[in-house]
Amino acid sequence: MEKKFRCAVIGMGILGTQHAQRLNKHEGMEIAAVCDMKAEKARSWAEQNSCRWYEDFRDMYQQENLDLVIVATQDPYHKDPVLQACKHKIPYVISEKPLTTCVKDAYEIQDAAEKSGTCIKVLFPNRFYPLDRAVRLMLKSGCLGNPEFGEMRMDDSIDVPRNLWGKDSKNFSAISSPVYFLLSHAVDLLHYYFAPRRIVKVYAKGKKSVVGSEFDYMDSFLTFEDGLVIRLKTEWTKRMEELVENYVQVTGEKGGFAYNKTPGFQAEQGLRIYMEADRKAAEEALARLKKEGIEASLGFSETMQAFRFDMKAEGKNDFDWNSGVCIYADSFREGFEERVPLTDLKDGIRQVEVVEALLKSAKEGRELEV
Ligand SMILES: NC(=O)c1ccc[n+]([C@@H]2O[C@H](COP(=O)([O-])OP(=O)(O)OC[C@H]3O[C@@H](n4cnc5c(N)ncnc54)[C@H](O)[C@@H]3O)[C@@H](O)[C@H]2O)c1
Repeated sequence: MEKKFRCAVIGMGILGTQHAQRLNKHEGMEIAAVCDMKAEKARSWAEQNSCRWYEDFRDMYQQENLDLVIVATQDPYHKDPVLQACKHKIPYVISEKPLTTCVKDAYEIQDAAEKSGTCIKVLFPNRFYPLDRAVRLMLKSGCLGNPEFGEMRMDDSIDVPRNLWGKDSKNFSAISSPVYFLLSHAVDLLHYYFAPRRIVKVYAKGKKSVVGSEFDYMDSFLTFEDGLVIRLKTEWTKRMEELVENYVQVTGEKGGFAYNKTPGFQAEQGLRIYMEADRKAAEEALARLKKEGIEASLGFSETMQAFRFDMKAEGKNDFDWNSGVCIYADSFREGFEERVPLTDLKDGIRQVEVVEALLKSAKEGRELEV
């Protein structure tokens, strides 16, 4: 068996702790050390799990011979641990999303990674969800014709900025916003769905005042290089019991889909795709989904005069969000078969460029090129 990767997690908050637990159970990984500037968080986890702990990641980089670092500090604080990992020539880094909250920092990381040869990936687990893979597959195979327009909303309950981080919630929401916390996911997912198309223009409107982050809400239009237009909206102030509401709908020349990815208000979770085609083409599309391990039912809608694929996010289509970190970690090992394109440094930087342009557009009140 290959030697285990010596891993360290920086930022032992909600996500860092989950990542450390997962990697600790992974047969190819071992958690050598954990780090948090609030020493108690690192110490208590380390003591329970028999690893070393640090308050300062620089000390850890000097003293531990690490293969892989996972950075799970708050949104604006990914840069320094990632940059220093490059400077210490640590071979692999997984950064929580977003890579950085400004483009300048992302480019600095890119320069350092080029010099050191460090391979950096940005953790976006949405890419592995079977129904998101189904969307990408159907779009990629041209089943729906050219995608023309659509909308996505990714909202959090107001409970997130108010309570998710306990007494630290106010601090977290002051240094982040739904733009960094949620739109980063959405932008990455849209690039994933519609690859190789890229977002080239953005037009955004934003507002604060409910929680008081720089923006509590943002609505925007994203234009891709082939003219595809997606309206993308986020807030983290929604009054709903559910933590997240995520909905996507896209219209193409020869079909379209509606996807209640994370439904709110007791709506049903699921993906429905309509495809105007002959039976043979529809059955071929069904076989492609099946080959990818995605379970769908196929019927014909008289009203739409189109074949209809229904998919539920359960059974074979279920996904365990927390396993994402293991898939990313595995991707650095020899022989890894990349069944889903992961977010590499280039994709991570593109996401930061789009989000920065959205923020600028909302401030300046005009459409901007990315
Ligand atoms: N909470 C979620 O639902 C969620 C989901 C997906 C992704 N994420 C992303 O994961 C990241 C972490 O989020 P979280 O909710 O776990 O935050 P958190 O506030 O619970 O944890 C962050 C930890 O990082 C530590 N930290 C900050 N700067 C540090 C430094 N320089 N050195 C060492 N430790 C440092 C803090 O003390 C804190 O314990 C964020 O980028 C977030 O966007 C969060």
